[in-house]
Amino acid sequence: MIKVRNLVVYYGKFKALSGINLDVKKGGIIALIGPSGCGKTTLLYVLGGIVAKYEGEVLIDGAPVDPKKQRIGLVLQDYGLLPWKRVWENALLGLKVKKKVIGKEDKEYAEYVLARVGLSDFLKRYPGELSGGQRQRVAIARAFIMKPDILLMDEPFSALDAITREEMQDLFIDVWKGSSVSTVFVTHSTEEAMFVGEKIAVMTGPPGRIVEIVDNPFFSRREIEDSDLYFSMKLKLKELIKGM
Ligand SMILES: Nc1ncnc2c1ncn2[C@@H]1O[C@H](COP(=O)(O)OP(=O)(O)OP(=O)(O)O)[C@@H](O)[C@H]1O
Ligand SMILES: [Mg+2]
Repeated sequence: MIKVRNLVVYYGKFKALSGINLDVKKGGIIALIGPSGCGKTTLLYVLGGIVAKYEGEVLIDGAPVDPKKQRIGLVLQDYGLLPWKRVWENALLGLKVKKKVIGKEDKEYAEYVLARVGLSDFLKRYPGELSGGQRQRVAIARAFIMKPDILLMDEPFSALDAITREEMQDLFIDVWKGSSVSTVFVTHSTEEAMFVGEKIAVMTGPPGRIVEIVDNPFFSRREIEDSDLYFSMKLKLKELIKGM
């Protein structure tokens, strides 16, 4: 469970976030959408304990955010893989930071996740020997393998071409559904938000604030993309973002 109350963040004198309130239920997923510079990454960094100077309340499963105590999965746009380590080692990296001994069960779960994302045949490759989509799959697998308390995704698919991006969204939601991890998924794209978010939070700024949180009936559904309702919701989101 993620709970944010009256969150305010300054970078020096610059006010980046202004009174953010947000709830993600245990095992829920919320898409966070808004224009460039509105403070999406800043909000994720607070949730991830990377930005530790803030006013307000940020709770993960009832306790103040603390990356030393909680496991936080973070997937960024640029994958964050270590080029000198193979896929298998990269995938276990998040877990190794948190755990000294990697047990049989951990390894089995890692194998399972890597298989789910289609990487079983690539475990011995180096990141430099993979496509962009494959690298991003390693990053996603790594985040799930560490069994995080919360999962933070910062525009993870924006560097991929449209077809690979849809594949990755499908794959991500597929693995996510088996994980029951509370997730915040940042995106620029209304289509992506409508696929990956049970709810969609629309953000404006700077200073960043959330203008609306909408329930999304189209979560993880592709087949209805040409319906009138889908289009009217997409339009509403686009207008909310544009009007800010
Ligand atoms: N370390 C920093 N020091 C000063 N200002 C910063 C710092 N990091 C971000 N900012 C500013 O804070 C605001 C929010 O930045 P942030 O990266 O959170 O936006 P964003 O919504 O993630 O944008 P994008 O969609 O382009 O990734 C921006 O105006 C940015 O210039
Ligand atoms: Mg950002």
